[in-house]
Amino acid sequence: MSSPLADIEAQASDCQRCALGQTRTNLVFGVGNPHAQIMLIGEGPGKNEDLQGEPFVGAAGKLLNTLLERIGLAREDIYIANILKCRPPNNRDPHTDEIEACTPWLREQIKSVHPTVLVTLGNFATKFVLQTETGITHLRGKVHTTGPFRVIPTFHPAAAIYDSSKVAALEADFDLLKLLLDTDAERARAAAADQQD
Ligand code: URA
Repeated sequence: MSSPLADIEAQASDCQRCALGQTRTNLVFGVGNPHAQIMLIGEGPGKNEDLQGEPFVGAAGKLLNTLLERIGLAREDIYIANILKCRPPNNRDPHTDEIEACTPWLREQIKSVHPTVLVTLGNFATKFVLQTETGITHLRGKVHTTGPFRVIPTFHPAAAIYDSSKVAALEADFDLLKLLLDTDAERARAAAADQQD
């Protein structure tokens, strides 16, 4: 059955807005709950994601699943997408022209899913969402606000695979996400109780 998000995915499926369209195996659009309150934004597909057409299915995805499970979330509860929908050769960094060509898809995904919280994984996603040149090390550990969104920037899980000292920071940032969700839920409960008085 067609849905707004599925329509955007169908439009993106044969995208050739940048040269990565020529080298991809699969376009990696995004997965998860189409009405999620939380949207995670990564950088771009790696080898496994390119082969399977799904974000975060490789080693970084395993760590991401563990971080989510620790705070009681499953992949089905959230929506996950990337800055780039197609794999850069040899997992090189995204180029500026590729980001400019590709992010209109992400903007449409955000509009359609309509999350309230964005978790940006790594520098590329954080720079795009917060429109900043400040590095992730300075931005992580806090909740930021942009437009209607609360934003939790954190390290890219792949960075923690190479540098295990980053795991504790990722855990702290996911704990912050849980705190934010619990606070929102408590406020909603209090507002509902007020209405009944
Ligand atoms: N890294 C990302 O940023 N995204 C993926 O989907 C996989 C690895």
